[in-house]
Amino acid sequence: MAARVFIINGPNLNLLGVREPDTYGRATLDDIRAMCEKRAAALGLSLTFSQHNMEGALVEQIHAAIAADAAAIIINAGAYTHTSIAIHDALRAFAGLIVEVHLSNIQAREDFRHTSHIAPVADGIIMGLGAMGYELALQAVAARTGS
Ligand code: DQA
Repeated sequence: MAARVFIINGPNLNLLGVREPDTYGRATLDDIRAMCEKRAAALGLSLTFSQHNMEGALVEQIHAAIAADAAAIIINAGAYTHTSIAIHDALRAFAGLIVEVHLSNIQAREDFRHTSHIAPVADGIIMGLGAMGYELALQAVAARTGS
């Protein structure tokens, strides 16, 4: 059976393409979803891709990944990366691989973006490579899960 991976996106990522394109690029979230679906299929992974603006909805999607016994979560929690203990705690309850993704290099930006509450529970972090970061994360999941 194909390993299942959840890609979970946080607030404002639905605005990609129009939102600060110099920072986040011109790809829309639909473009990224299509790219991820194609790459996941090529890697033999089964993909659940979602975006949520509310913190609680992100927590619930992590619970869904736990209930589905997913092999991996790839998460770009947007600004909740820097604030959310609830998302940190939910991820701690997940037994599979966790990859944190950011389109921009959060370490090269404002000080308030330098802290990530996801990082301590992540197996790996990809940042600053734009939409390609999602593809690289899928590749890492396939390699780590033996898909
Ligand atoms: C982001 C970086 C965050 O600091 C920001 O709040 C986002 C997007 C990124 O992908 O670069 O919404 O997670």
